[in-house]
Amino acid sequence: MKNRIFLYLAFGALLVVFISCTTKKNEISASEKIISEKIDSLLQLMNLEEKIGQLAQVNPEYNNTEILLEMIRKGKIGSVINAGDADFRKRLQQVAVKESRLGIPLIFGRDVIHGYRTVFPIPLAQSCSWNPELVKKAAQIAAFEASSDGIHWTFSPMLDIARDPRWGRIAESNGEDPYLGSQMAIAMVNGYQGDKLNNPHALAACAKHYVGYGAAEGGRDYNTTLIPEPELRNIYLPPFKAAVEAKVATVMSAFNDLNGIPATANEFTLRQILRTEWAFDGFVVSDWTSISELINHGYAADERDAALKAIQAGIDMEMVSTCYQDHLKELIQNGVINENLVNEAVRNILRIKFRKGLFDNPYTEKPDSNVFLMPAHLETAKELAIQSTVLLKNDNNILPLSENINKVALIGPLADAPLDQLGMWTPDGRPEEAVTPLTAIRQLIGNQRVIYAAGLEKSRSTDKSRFNNAIMAARQADACIMFIGEEQILSGEAHSRAFLNLPGAQEELVSAIAQTGKPLIIIIMAGRPLIFDKIENKAKAILYAWHGGTMAGPAIADLLFGKAIPSGKLSVSFPRTEGQIPVYYNHRNTGRPPSKENLGIPTGTPLDPVNYSSNYLDLDFTPAYPFGYGLSYTSFEYSPISLSKDTMSKNDTLIVKVTIRNTGKYAGTEVVQLYIRDLVGSITRPVKELKAFRRIALEPGQSKEIVFTLTQSDFAFYGKNMTYSAEPGQFMIWSGNSSDDKDLSGAIFYLTE
Ligand code: BGC
Repeated sequence: MKNRIFLYLAFGALLVVFISCTTKKNEISASEKIISEKIDSLLQLMNLEEKIGQLAQVNPEYNNTEILLEMIRKGKIGSVINAGDADFRKRLQQVAVKESRLGIPLIFGRDVIHGYRTVFPIPLAQSCSWNPELVKKAAQIAAFEASSDGIHWTFSPMLDIARDPRWGRIAESNGEDPYLGSQMAIAMVNGYQGDKLNNPHALAACAKHYVGYGAAEGGRDYNTTLIPEPELRNIYLPPFKAAVEAKVATVMSAFNDLNGIPATANEFTLRQILRTEWAFDGFVVSDWTSISELINHGYAADERDAALKAIQAGIDMEMVSTCYQDHLKELIQNGVINENLVNEAVRNILRIKFRKGLFDNPYTEKPDSNVFLMPAHLETAKELAIQSTVLLKNDNNILPLSENINKVALIGPLADAPLDQLGMWTPDGRPEEAVTPLTAIRQLIGNQRVIYAAGLEKSRSTDKSRFNNAIMAARQADACIMFIGEEQILSGEAHSRAFLNLPGAQEELVSAIAQTGKPLIIIIMAGRPLIFDKIENKAKAILYAWHGGTMAGPAIADLLFGKAIPSGKLSVSFPRTEGQIPVYYNHRNTGRPPSKENLGIPTGTPLDPVNYSSNYLDLDFTPAYPFGYGLSYTSFEYSPISLSKDTMSKNDTLIVKVTIRNTGKYAGTEVVQLYIRDLVGSITRPVKELKAFRRIALEPGQSKEIVFTLTQSDFAFYGKNMTYSAEPGQFMIWSGNSSDDKDLSGAIFYLTE
């Protein structure tokens, strides 16, 4: 009887879930139906100029305000980028809504890349947290602050896979891995957009730069990219696909030439993949003047031709350049293109304006300043900065610093550099609101225990006149903590570097301080992986803190003194030298794989001991620090992995289990990683691919079993003839705490039809 009641209850609960799911689905389609009807009626009222107006995004800096207002009044503008402050935005919106013929609201866009007034760590750092939940929370806070200030739309997340640290925009990326990148994409889109785009505190997100931009040759920004289709589909597209599946509102086309067709005029990626295969129904915005740049690419003869090629390829909105405004009308009137192309673009844009609720709720009042930098925002910024920081080295467990260390010397150009710690792309972050390591450490351990000397004015400075002060500071201390790396200005858009060493005289400063014989801890604050092999051995510990944002200082202070335990893992491989680039973990094996045994320049006959393998003569082929790597103050032990079966048919499920034990003294968090290798494929497969990860917190002595569930989609890829499938055959499956072989334990597994 009891069982039967239970069954009824369970059935009832299932029914409720089913009904509420279907109702929700129906509700969604009902509201979408209303939106589509509204678009139809509006479109019928619009004249051609007004339609073309919706496709224009302007930057007010380039227009005199009166001219701008007049254009809005005439319905010639659909969106404004970087529109001053909340009051100015409201003024522009009033003109659009009350004074233009059809009252279509503007959508205000801005680069809210890693926070608004509360600045979070740079995205590359955030991805080292391997904590999508926390990254989502940061995006939610950014959306809250920016929307309070009247912004509707952020040009984030940047989802370019980045394997080249010379490229300045690696700072904006989630690193080199398509799986981790996809998890971060989903987290950021969900964080910005929330459950409902029309929530006044949601921002429409923008997946950019579509696509391949990160593969710029030589790491030089805007440079050409050549990406074969399987690589495009298996590596570069997945984060974008994940964002589209998470219902990202907009996509931005990239600046690069992709296999001979610029991304901004690429029908294959924009129409075939994005619209047809993925059914994306938001709108596509060009990048800044990337339509007129089709001329420089040598893909369009003039602006008219550029407008033609971009609209044909499926760019809905033109950012800043005016090819559409100046030429679409004539192209239609002369029958070169059909007006339906423009109608379609207008529909896409209006759909997002309706979904965003702009017609019902066009205005935002000037916010109280207390909506920014709220305690909870700062707490999240600090937590994310903690989790983004990667402990690269910790000889004899020098960190956390013991209570016995009475005086510390804080040395280096980044100990007290508020602007630099904010990182690139922070137009709304304010240096005066950033808490530097110097301030935070003084607060944490008391002013009297801290001696400070910058040693160098800036990271790039070569003037050594301050070295003596720094050396004197070091001599008076029990330990030295050096803050070195890169200034904000050395990474980000158009800020690529050919040399990745510590700029200026920083290496010499480290050597001078090391000579005092005081224990040395180095904190590297940078926008990319740097090469620091020359000073690595001089430090007992190295924390890679990236540009950690407003709360970088308190985060670093807590990590140094054991109030927080590092848990970050690299989302990108660190090269040993520039000559190794690109170096990434998910490379192919080659016909003559490299091995550590084959190092060294041969001394015998020229043909002798090189062994004809894919090595360098003069350097180890492995990275300085591998993808997935990061230490803790505690230690973790992994059991061998166990598989629920060693052979699985495609429709089955594989359970992978591994037990992790905290074998150290501190409570800590480990990021457990799961990799696979498809040993034989219809096209060659990477030597490893990340397929899952889990963050787990463990008390000292505690152990936990982690269970990963894999299905055929985890083994699937675009193979020969671009078919997406899991190919039967043999696989390796590993689990461990980095992508390095020595950190992994594995098992063999067979997939059958
Ligand atoms: C960048 C975009 C950015 C846009 C607007 C461009 O230069 O490539 O990422 O969103 O400017 O500021």
